[in-house]
Amino acid sequence: MEPNSYNNQLIFFLNGNKVIINNPNPELTLLTYLRSNAGLTGTKLGCGEGGCGACTVMLSHHLKTEDKIVHRSINSCLLPLCSVAGCAVTTIEGLGNVKDGMHPVQQRLSDQHGSQCGFCTPGIIMALYSYLRSHPNATQHEIEECFDGNLCRCTGYRPILDAARSFGVDQPKVEEEQPAAVEELRLPEIAYADGVQKDKPAENICPSTGKPCDCKSKSTHIPSQPLDLKSEPIFPPFLMTLKQESLKFNGDRVTWYTPTTLNELLNLKRLHNNAKIVVGNTEVGIETKFRNIVYPVIICPSKVPELQKISQAENGIEIGSTISLTDIKYYLVDLCKNIEAYKTGTFKAMLSQFRWFAGNQIRNAACLAGNLVTASPISDINPVLLAAGAILTLVSINDRGERITRKVNINSFFKSYRVVDIQPDEILTSIFVPYTRENEYIEAYKQSRRRDDDIAIVSCCFRVLLAKNDENDYVVQDCTLAYGGMNVKAVTTPATQELLQGQVWQRSILEKAYQTLEKDLPLQQGAPGGMIEYRRSLTTSYFFKFFLTVSNYLYSVSNDVKHKIEDNEQSVIQKYQREMSSGEQTYQYQPLMSPVTMPIKHQSADKQVTGEALYTDDIKHNAYSAAMVLSTKAHARIKNIDSTKALSMPGVKGIYFAKDIEGVNQVGPVIYDEELFASSVVLCVGYPIGVAVAETHQQALEAAKAVVIEYEELPAVTSIEQAIAEKSFLNCHHVINNGDIVKGFEESEHVIEGEMKVGAQEHFYLETNAALVIPGEGSEFMVYSSTQNPTKTQSLLALTLGVPANQIVVKRMGGGFGGKETRSIFSTCIAAVAAQKLRHPVRIMLDRDVDMMTTGTRHPFIGKYKIGFDKNGKIMAADIDLYADAGYSFDLSVGVLDRAMFHSENAYKVPNIRVNGRLCKTNLPTNTAFRGFGGPQGMIICEIWMEKIANYLKKPPTEIRQLNFYKEGEFTHYLQEVKNCQLQRIWDETLQKSDYFNRLAKVEEFNRNNKWKKRGIAIIPTKFGMSFTVKTLNQAGALVHVYTDGTVLVTHGGTEMGQGLHTKMIQIAAKELGVPVDKVYISETSTDKVANTAPTAASVSSDMNGMAVLDACQQINARLAPLKEKNPNLPFQKLVGLAFAERVNLSANGFYATPNVGYFFKDSGVGDGLPFNYFNYGCACSEVEIDTLTGDYTTLRTDIIMDVGDSLNPAIDIGQVEGAYTQGVGWCTLEEIVTFPNGNLFTRGPSTYKIPGFNDVPIVFNVSLLSNAPNPKAIHSSKGVGEPPLFLGSAVYFAIRNAIMDARNDRDDGLATKDEWFNLATPATCERIRNTCIDKFTNQFNQK
Ligand SMILES: Cc1cc2nc3c(=O)[nH]c(=O)nc-3n(C[C@H](O)[C@H](O)[C@H](O)COP(=O)(O)OP(=O)(O)OC[C@H]3O[C@@H](n4cnc5c(N)ncnc54)[C@H](O)[C@@H]3O)c2cc1C
Ligand code: FES
Ligand code: FES
Repeated sequence: MEPNSYNNQLIFFLNGNKVIINNPNPELTLLTYLRSNAGLTGTKLGCGEGGCGACTVMLSHHLKTEDKIVHRSINSCLLPLCSVAGCAVTTIEGLGNVKDGMHPVQQRLSDQHGSQCGFCTPGIIMALYSYLRSHPNATQHEIEECFDGNLCRCTGYRPILDAARSFGVDQPKVEEEQPAAVEELRLPEIAYADGVQKDKPAENICPSTGKPCDCKSKSTHIPSQPLDLKSEPIFPPFLMTLKQESLKFNGDRVTWYTPTTLNELLNLKRLHNNAKIVVGNTEVGIETKFRNIVYPVIICPSKVPELQKISQAENGIEIGSTISLTDIKYYLVDLCKNIEAYKTGTFKAMLSQFRWFAGNQIRNAACLAGNLVTASPISDINPVLLAAGAILTLVSINDRGERITRKVNINSFFKSYRVVDIQPDEILTSIFVPYTRENEYIEAYKQSRRRDDDIAIVSCCFRVLLAKNDENDYVVQDCTLAYGGMNVKAVTTPATQELLQGQVWQRSILEKAYQTLEKDLPLQQGAPGGMIEYRRSLTTSYFFKFFLTVSNYLYSVSNDVKHKIEDNEQSVIQKYQREMSSGEQTYQYQPLMSPVTMPIKHQSADKQVTGEALYTDDIKHNAYSAAMVLSTKAHARIKNIDSTKALSMPGVKGIYFAKDIEGVNQVGPVIYDEELFASSVVLCVGYPIGVAVAETHQQALEAAKAVVIEYEELPAVTSIEQAIAEKSFLNCHHVINNGDIVKGFEESEHVIEGEMKVGAQEHFYLETNAALVIPGEGSEFMVYSSTQNPTKTQSLLALTLGVPANQIVVKRMGGGFGGKETRSIFSTCIAAVAAQKLRHPVRIMLDRDVDMMTTGTRHPFIGKYKIGFDKNGKIMAADIDLYADAGYSFDLSVGVLDRAMFHSENAYKVPNIRVNGRLCKTNLPTNTAFRGFGGPQGMIICEIWMEKIANYLKKPPTEIRQLNFYKEGEFTHYLQEVKNCQLQRIWDETLQKSDYFNRLAKVEEFNRNNKWKKRGIAIIPTKFGMSFTVKTLNQAGALVHVYTDGTVLVTHGGTEMGQGLHTKMIQIAAKELGVPVDKVYISETSTDKVANTAPTAASVSSDMNGMAVLDACQQINARLAPLKEKNPNLPFQKLVGLAFAERVNLSANGFYATPNVGYFFKDSGVGDGLPFNYFNYGCACSEVEIDTLTGDYTTLRTDIIMDVGDSLNPAIDIGQVEGAYTQGVGWCTLEEIVTFPNGNLFTRGPSTYKIPGFNDVPIVFNVSLLSNAPNPKAIHSSKGVGEPPLFLGSAVYFAIRNAIMDARNDRDDGLATKDEWFNLATPATCERIRNTCIDKFTNQFNQK
């Protein structure tokens, strides 16, 4: 019988205010409550699976036993609302706001340019704030590590880290010389822009505000001082005295219990055998969301004191089952300081796993029992507990009220895949972890795709107990080798353990151990998780590491040389440790041009850091929610659709299909070759078939999934290789011919041939596609859309709704990167179809997995090349075939392919060339624009053959590259003259700034002295053509209104997605009209203000919209000129007042069309016209270190010099360079999209798809904008910047290649052929790096 004393009131504090909810819905997450019920939209939904940190809030509670307040960052997307009873929740709104004053954390992030699109920003601020509140004495280095649960797709992380470090207690003393965070170079007097001679002495400018000031320091105005906790809000005293009561909440489908005593908990479990125990919900939350599981009874044991204890027992420690991993960590850190060192081996192994276990927010919520009971085969902790021999205590209660306790050795706890030895009425109460004994060594290892916040590929822990024999040898007394990721559960290795038993610890045991490990850990080809060869080689590689580590210990304790490991092996046993990051940014500014060229912060930065900036899904409106009905087949005929059940589900308002569209179903961004809803045939997994609309998002999702679709499967093409083999092409075949390749090859002394596969890339904008469609009068619709392309959205909406053009408003986007240039339109149209049917507002925001599986990616490419060159490496001829995977339709693929073809020679003159481009048609989502738009794919294939030429001729790649650089006045293969060519200069400056040749020598020395760690350094140039390659798109409009109070309203055709476009437009208008920047406002982009706009893309939005704004301002200035002439000293406000009185029009419509651009392909291969307005140049030098045994890599240093002309805003431009570079690194090394042969996408969220994290920032990261390089072809001598630096991320890929080459030269199987060429597809993941570093470990498993 249940006790009847349950309280059904949930009491907690939210931003200092008491909240009481009667019977809250147990299915509600804290995030849904905050956004939908409390109206606090500052906290964002980025993934809903704990993987991005956008939803981070601070959860504080009073720890009664220690009478202390604990503050923790938490992912509100996973935390059940019901679990916050008695806690204080602080969201971004609780810190500060623009009106009443920002919190120092918000202020510093804003001032340091740490927010671009701003979607990640509230989460990042809350992670930092929570950390500072719980670690007021944190050092800069410690603070750097508090972001492992947060992602940002825009910034490249550096400015966030700069702002965060300023709170460290170990700031350099004021009188000490501070390292320059920002180094500025003022433009010398001789430099000029737009013909304006600089003759006025330059002023000092504050790097953060962009305003003149007297600070002589090179560092910024951002104060560097720790947080003053005395001025922080206190924990509500009410909660400290609140009596803990047992809680029960009844929902429609789920009942929630929070018991307060162990007996109560055990009784509940006895009564509700199938009840789900939920602590952190980091496992259960994922199950319920992604597997649609509903647990009718949930019991939360977190308030049971017995389960929250951790204490020392006789030979170890007893860990209460629900203590968070963070609290266990703190306990262990303390314990390790206070007991004999030899006892602490397992605790140190646990701590080393905790360091890389998920991110802070997950560790703050998750408990050990959750990890054990889930029994994931890739758990990080279970192998440690297995190796250590942990004992689990399981308790139940019988109907006489007697407790039954069972002790289970962990060895017998894991039964099979996610099945453990626990009875339905049992609770895991504690875990006993024994001390290590003298001469007992234990080490844990983990390899994942990304270091920060990633599930293991293989995790393992090895323990060995040794004893000295009479010959002073160490003999194995006992050992356990435990592995995760090698079976359906975490396992030990009985045969190897038996083999090692009694053996002397010496190298001769290794070979036999490798053989038995292979038998202990069989893994068949095709086993779940893939990466068979890699995973198997990790098992032995790690054991080898362990052997070296223990030997090294033995040497340190015995000083006996037989245990001494080779000097060149030392580095491989060192655990990964990252120095604090640093960097320098250098740029120029021109006070005479102010506010243009000044490093003014992003105009929305303050609103973004306070959570006040509104994104599409933040707009409060009484709208229904829409969710798409998606195809589950790659290619199939729809035989039948049954939505009867779905229509009868709670809250459902309607479900619509192709037949319900009132306008036209056949649409497309350029060519109308796709259907909004598949009418008879689906073309990929994730193809929209219909839309379900309901009162809530969850109801709509469930209804969409309940629609039953019968298919007749058709043959499908699910890879680019299959498409090429089956000649599955879209009808597009472009060729560029220049010179005579037959003759070129005849005259070449050498010819190489090869092929490279370039991987795709998911946009992973933090804000997924979103739209809100509001029907208005008659056939009018007001549409808010998170799109880069308002005009195309408008025209396709008109088409699908069958009504005239409507109004599209773009507030701001949480990132776009090309992914919202066309694909955003489709989800908007789908919501609009539903809104039209229901005559009711409808919103849509794609869940992360739906966004990833439906909206396409960067195009993967296969490039085949044949290159002729002379003995010096001078290129004579190139024959290049480029194949791009377009997916199921054209979308923008022709433009992407064309740009790849235009960039297929990157920075090099190729006198005789033929480039052949084909678009592969596959049954995969249609691929689309992504920063660089095909350019990076073309360039990386080019840089591969550059490397191959150097490799062939045995010359340094730098020599071959320099030899072939374009020179001023030469013509490209599409016959465009290369003018103002900065290649050689930028290359020389990068060589010098990076100290390339000295560092190359050091890299070589390092490699000579290290066998298992290798370094590589590479320097890579880029030349990027600026303009849309489609002529029509090279136009822009702007509308400028001047009001009589002297303020200015600017609207232009570009959309803001974090790139700072609006800020630059404000600077241009302010400069032209001669008003301060704070008098200029930008209203949201809207098709009723500026019509017929080009998409915000191709990096030319500042160029074009800037010119349009300038045009409008110049028109107004011209009208004001006569009045100004008569009243030369009249301030602007008075002048415009006078103009109004004189009936002068103070509004103007500006327009700009880029002159002389537009290229037309011809079958002959010699096209008409010029594709680009000008070229942008850049160069990056990166140095990496790889662990050849695991494939792990670290970027030690990157130096970038980027040509952006005279920067309109250097702070924003540096942010663009860093962000693009980081995305480029992700594309080349981390971000692997995995699709199953049946067309299903495996990588559907941050848990499987890894974009770079904070830990991936180069340890030294220097970025400079090229000085004294005005661009005569664009506004105020500037250049566009968004896309060109992306390719520079490939410097890391080429540095990795060089490091691998060294490892292969050093291979120990006697088969090394010096500098033998090898292929390495992108991304160069840890798996590819390790598998390419051939050695005896990979050979053992090669092709087994
Ligand atoms: C973004 C993300 C990253 C992650 N990264 C990692 C990682 O790097 N390494 C790793 O190993 N795991 C990782 N995980 C998995 C997860 O965090 C762990 O398994 C965690 O330890 C689960 O703890 P929890 O308290 O959240 O469990 P819950 O989700 O609350 O519960 C999990 C299971 O344990 C049961 N359970 C919990 N407590 C008890 C008890 N006392 N008695 C009986 N049954 C109990 C529950 O009934 C449930 O079946 C990650 C998860 C996420 C979402
Ligand atoms: S939305 Fe919660 S972690 Fe991504
Ligand atoms: S600013 Fe971080 S995701 Fe855009």
